[in-house]
Amino acid sequence: MSAHDQISRSGKPAVVAHRGASGETAEHTLAAYELALEQGADGLECDVRLTSDHQLVCIHDRTIDRTSDGTGVVSEMSLAELKEHDFGSWHTDGRSASVLTLRELLTLTLDWHRPVRLFIETKHPVRFGSLVEQRLLEELQEFGVATPPSADHSRAVVISFSSAGVWRIRRHAPMLPTILLGDTARLLGGSAATAVGATGIGPSVESLRLYPDLVDRAAAAGRVTYCWTVDEQVDVQLCADLGVRWVATNHPARVRDWLVTV
Ligand code: G3P
Ligand code: CA
Repeated sequence: MSAHDQISRSGKPAVVAHRGASGETAEHTLAAYELALEQGADGLECDVRLTSDHQLVCIHDRTIDRTSDGTGVVSEMSLAELKEHDFGSWHTDGRSASVLTLRELLTLTLDWHRPVRLFIETKHPVRFGSLVEQRLLEELQEFGVATPPSADHSRAVVISFSSAGVWRIRRHAPMLPTILLGDTARLLGGSAATAVGATGIGPSVESLRLYPDLVDRAAAAGRVTYCWTVDEQVDVQLCADLGVRWVATNHPARVRDWLVTV
């Protein structure tokens, strides 16, 4: 059995809710993740950033301007300051929501009644030296998921466009699975993923359409493929045909339905 296989339905890609069920409700909110879990997602994806008081929060952008009722740079705001803003009501479903911390998302994931895997994406970690990885590993240790017996049994996967970020995780927590996200050339060559010891590669679906042999090349090197962001039925079929292990989507319910017939 290859890495990452424990929490997936056999023979088909497992479904990862990208920023939660973000096609239906405000991304990175507790409601978006709860909805994804209720819809049967096998995994959850989140982006994490550091606040000025070194807390990890689930926010995609450098600023809170797009996804809240406020403005400001995440890394220049404390968690208390972020909590003063509404991160849900910008969305058409209109529900207000507090900023989500990684701790809160870990609690939801690990307390869910069936096993679910959390894909944690470190955003631009090199800006902070090794502080993002240090804080991330501290929180994973706190929740007892930093040292799984094997990658297959891990409830957390660290993903990043930063090869330095992936390398630091592998160095300090070698049993944690990691995925190097990246552009096609880097992933096709495989040298970056090999150099940092990533257990998987993460091409965009646009890259995969152009270079479907990425999946076989990764498999030949013992790596699984995680593809993002897979919201079209034709791409779900492509991923299933190629043997992609994880598909990250904004529409987990829809993708699960499509996977029934592939
Ligand atoms: O899951 C990987 C994917 O989320 C990377 O792109 O910009 O949505 O974080 P982005
Ligand atoms: Ca992401």
